[in-house]
Amino acid sequence: MNVEELVKKAIEAKEMAYVPYSKFRVGAALLTDDGKIYKGCNIESASYSPTNCAERTAIFKAVSEGDKNFTAIAVTSDSGYTFPCGVCRQVMREFSPKLKIYIVKNENEYKEFTLEELLPHSFGPEDLIQNKLKDDKIEF
Ligand code: THU
Repeated sequence: MNVEELVKKAIEAKEMAYVPYSKFRVGAALLTDDGKIYKGCNIESASYSPTNCAERTAIFKAVSEGDKNFTAIAVTSDSGYTFPCGVCRQVMREFSPKLKIYIVKNENEYKEFTLEELLPHSFGPEDLIQNKLKDDKIEF
């Protein structure tokens, strides 16, 4: 995997941010297991709550094009190291529990984390399987 390329694409993606309310631009670049890169930016709304983070924009673009397995995501803003919000971490968890996350300050400065580090003891699709609950003898 070429981390430098992913970092560049996240910085590029930030240019498209639609942020008239917060003025806080975020860009993300998501790498699929077969080497495709999806870019995403944050998109805000006058009624605020429909706002979509850059990370989820990239993930939803990918899933809507048939890609569901991701290796890494790079995230950047204009404000130093910006970490994904809790909602985005949960959406990452849905598809790729082993995801690598690059938090990018600029083209030359970034830090690597795993999703497991940022969302420990997570809840995911497997936890919904009824049989697992039976096996574990959990009653409800
Ligand atoms: N935001 C993201 O796009 N990703 C993050 O990781 C943190 C927050 C956006 C949402 C909103 O448009 C703006 O940043 C301020 O919260």
